[in-house]
Amino acid sequence: MAYCVALSDADRSCCAEFDPAQLSLHIAPALDHCLAAPTHATPTMAPARARLLACLSALTTLAAASWVAAGGHRMTDQVINGSSDGDQIVGLSLDRVMGSGFRSKTSYLFARIDIDIKLVAGNSAGTVTTMISEGQWNIHDEIDLEFLGNLTGEPYTLHTNIFANGSGGSEVQYRLWFDPTQDFHTYTILWNSEEILILVDDMAIRRFKNHWDAGVPFPVYQPMRLNGVLWDADQWATQGGRVKTDWTQAPFTAYFRNYRATGCEPSLDGAWVCGQDPSGGGDWFDGGVAGMDDVKQTQQLREAQQRYTIYDYCTDSVRFPDGFPKECGLP
Ligand SMILES: *[C@@H]1O[C@H](CO)[C@@H](O)[C@H](O)[C@H]1NC(C)=O
Repeated sequence: MAYCVALSDADRSCCAEFDPAQLSLHIAPALDHCLAAPTHATPTMAPARARLLACLSALTTLAAASWVAAGGHRMTDQVINGSSDGDQIVGLSLDRVMGSGFRSKTSYLFARIDIDIKLVAGNSAGTVTTMISEGQWNIHDEIDLEFLGNLTGEPYTLHTNIFANGSGGSEVQYRLWFDPTQDFHTYTILWNSEEILILVDDMAIRRFKNHWDAGVPFPVYQPMRLNGVLWDADQWATQGGRVKTDWTQAPFTAYFRNYRATGCEPSLDGAWVCGQDPSGGGDWFDGGVAGMDDVKQTQQLREAQQRYTIYDYCTDSVRFPDGFPKECGLP
């Protein structure tokens, strides 16, 4: 069974089909209505998104009421049949009044998560589509892929960041080698106890190794859930905030398809259940990361660094005049 959520009568195209057993879908009212900002919001970029995320958890029931408040025509929520090819598609919409997001129902402690995303097309300046794996506890762990929109014809930026044990600021940004608005592409977070690997269409672009032994925090004890969010960040997102969201183009819509997750689920009695799903990447958990050999992966990472990286905190000497963070010098 799938649900269909359209954000307005005019935009039936943003129909969302999803499996309620896997993902819960939420629509958040305008950010101003969401007052509970989590403590981990970082000053530069996260507050708006953090507020939206904070709202999402409380919104399943609230949503229905807020539509009515927003004029009654903002959402229809009806049960429809699943799509013929069995794909699960979630369309997230953003307009001046609403942002939207979904969240995986399962929390994992180490996982491989794949999702296909087709980003907001046309003038997407100011909008940010986010795939974020986040812990629910007070000490912040997060693995973050944010797609920063741009003017029509100008390229998206893929912004990645990792927070562990409350510290973050390890941003690396990429220029994609394709137009991410034309088609679905697969984005992957692979997280085990040794490393975090980010892949785009199965190409490894970023590796963050576990260097706890050298005193570099790494997420190892807090289960995380995947969130997909489409939100407005025009204070900073596009060309440093100079280009604002053009609300005449709203609603903006990004599509997510084929959420696949395989991971370990810690249970209350301390036992671990680890995903056995062979389609999820097989031996992702212990070393044979992403089912590819180390040499190929290292080649891919080098290629991503040489050809597609447009910002790397590990080379930003203006930001770190007194020396780079420790992990930058570690293999
Ligand atoms: C948008 O396009 C401009 C010009 O091509 C580019 O400098 C910028 O990095 C792009 N992305 C963002 C998010 O501003």
